[in-house]
Amino acid sequence: MTARSRLDYTGNIDNQSTAREEQSMRTRTTALFVLAAGLALPAAAVSPPPAELAGVLKANNCTTCHLLSGRTVVGPAYSEIAARYADDKAAAVPVLAERVLKGSDAKIWGQAPMPPSAKINAAEAEAVVKWILGL
Ligand code: HEC
Repeated sequence: MTARSRLDYTGNIDNQSTAREEQSMRTRTTALFVLAAGLALPAAAVSPPPAELAGVLKANNCTTCHLLSGRTVVGPAYSEIAARYADDKAAAVPVLAERVLKGSDAKIWGQAPMPPSAKINAAEAEAVVKWILGL
């Protein structure tokens, strides 16, 4: 066997193993997509706010810190909040409405405090919380 043919031979082996790696990479990528699609489903539970609440969210900058799903650096997603209180929505409404009005000290979600919202009244806070919890 000459040096040249050894090189060719090795080259072939390498090509085959590269093809196998690509194949297994594709399989893993597909698996990740399936997993991500599965994880994304519960997030769809919170649909966009009705117009009258969208105005309240905007005026109080709620959307700066909260997304419908997916976290900002600061606050939990509305879909996460809905999931957390899903078992006892009725009891959660007044508690969460109070926290929206007066702020929350970061002990609940452990990331950052929520400041009080100045441009919202009790009825609006309750309506927003009911929408978040999907009542
Ligand atoms: C400056 C950022 C910021 C703004 C603005 C903000 N929030 Fe929050 N919010 C947070 C953070 C941070 C938390 C978690 C607080 C904690 O762990 O106690 C939170 C928590 C919450 C919770 C869950 C409270 C709980 O007890 O689990 C609700 C509901 C909520 N926010 C709604 C709103 C609404 C509605 C508005 C607008 C009227 C708003 N937030 C404005 C940052 C913000």
